[in-house]
Amino acid sequence: MKNLNILTLISLCVLVACQSDTFDREQLDFDLMNIINRESPTGSLSYFILAQSNDLAALPQDPKNPLTPEKVELGSFLFFETGMGIVPKNENGMQSYSCGSCHVPAADFKPGRRQGIGEGGFGFGYKGESRVKHSAYVEEQMDVQGIRPLNVLNVAYSAENTLWNGSFGSTGANADLSDIYGVFDEATVLNHRGFHGLETQNIEGLKVHRMLMTKALADELGYTARFDAAFPDLPVEERYSNIAVSLALSAYLRTLTTTEAPFQKWLKGDMAAMSNEEKRGAMVFFNEGNCNTCHTSPAFSAVKFFAIGVNNLDDLVSFKEGPELAKKNLGRGGFTGRESDMFKFKVPTLYNLQGTPFYFHGASKQSIEEVVEYFDKAIPENPNVPAAQIASEFRPLGLSEQKKADLVAFLKYGLQDPTVTRLAPSALPSGNCFPNADPLSKREIGCE
Ligand code: HEC
Ligand code: HEC
Repeated sequence: MKNLNILTLISLCVLVACQSDTFDREQLDFDLMNIINRESPTGSLSYFILAQSNDLAALPQDPKNPLTPEKVELGSFLFFETGMGIVPKNENGMQSYSCGSCHVPAADFKPGRRQGIGEGGFGFGYKGESRVKHSAYVEEQMDVQGIRPLNVLNVAYSAENTLWNGSFGSTGANADLSDIYGVFDEATVLNHRGFHGLETQNIEGLKVHRMLMTKALADELGYTARFDAAFPDLPVEERYSNIAVSLALSAYLRTLTTTEAPFQKWLKGDMAAMSNEEKRGAMVFFNEGNCNTCHTSPAFSAVKFFAIGVNNLDDLVSFKEGPELAKKNLGRGGFTGRESDMFKFKVPTLYNLQGTPFYFHGASKQSIEEVVEYFDKAIPENPNVPAAQIASEFRPLGLSEQKKADLVAFLKYGLQDPTVTRLAPSALPSGNCFPNADPLSKREIGCE
């Protein structure tokens, strides 16, 4: 009898707890929906729903490079095609690197290490973390950059002007700057072609990363028919060129959306996709945190530039780039030459932050907790950034420990799509090893 009572009592408690949990959850969902509707530029939370990778019509695109399934597929292969690396600075690197060397799918399309290594790297590890300098190289020959790679996931939502300084692209923030294209930043002369940033940047990117497409190579690697299907309107002289490759790469990159993140599922009506902690964190994000005043796009990126005074990469690692490096550290000012743009950097997406523990353009923070702490205190860490440049929106928040923990949970889990490797091909038509094909990487990736 006594036992039974206890059992009844326990099940009653469970029932009540369960009910109050459901009640909490419903109230939370309701409150969060209200806040997001209020904060949405369109007045509706549907603004924040990212387009599905295969819904080409819904993805943001360049009118001069309309998305087609053929282009996207071709680009998905070429992004990882080590066979395109035919203009290395050292013969040891021949056909051993790709875009994927620094944008590794298993590391959320980041390098897996603080600084990516394209040509001149050796080895891969599990997700790029153990790629090191090839012993046959001197530093000057290596393809490394003095800034942390941006996340290419969700790049469609900030593709009008790409790179941390937004230098590429002739529309968006660069629309009124045509007289300075190529002036302070030589490569930006390409903006005169009139494409969005992404399409423009990848033309230069192929050169920077020592890749080249020719008709002979397309034939050899088995891509000719795919170029024909993707670019039937391009004259044959241009059809198997770096321009066509850039357009295909851009088409593919635009489809990399993090639609399976819990917050995305919640927005689409699956209320159980996020924990209560993540939901409370989302409230902090849109409310007291004011994070969305700068992280404005559906991907929480923006083609806007702010100085929040973080440290640069050159303070931290040895590979240097000479004068180009110093220019990167000036942010937007390195492109425009304007005093008012100095030390301002593009607002990055906040999805899939977990792939590599390196945050901000100089990788000066190694955990999401540290990033939240930085925004909460709002004390610039880089003494070289003049106080007058620091964004007025970057100010102390005074969040409680609980709110900071909730915000961290939202960023860490709510915005993490755990399935992004689905966006990479499983094999290349050429049969080449990818994303790297140096002897050590080949063994580690399992190509031989
Ligand atoms: C050596 C490593 C490395 C390789 C190889 C590499 N990238 Fe990157 N990528 C970077 C870095 C670093 C940045 C940020 C550079 C900057 O902003 O100045 C970046 C930025 C980008 C961006 C900008 C995203 C945005 O939001 O503005 C795109 C797109 C991109 N890379 C695509 C590519 C493509 C396509 C290739 C192959 C042609 C490639 N990358 C090869 C390191 C690399
Ligand atoms: C003043 C505008 C502004 C506000 C407000 C703001 N951010 Fe940012 N955020 C940026 C910029 C700009 C960067 C890139 C700075 C850099 O690396 O130089 C950034 C970077 C980040 C990063 C690093 C992403 C990466 O890939 O390295 C995270 C995470 C982040 N912000 C989260 C937040 C959160 C959470 C809030 C609210 C508490 C917030 N931000 C508020 C402008 C802002």
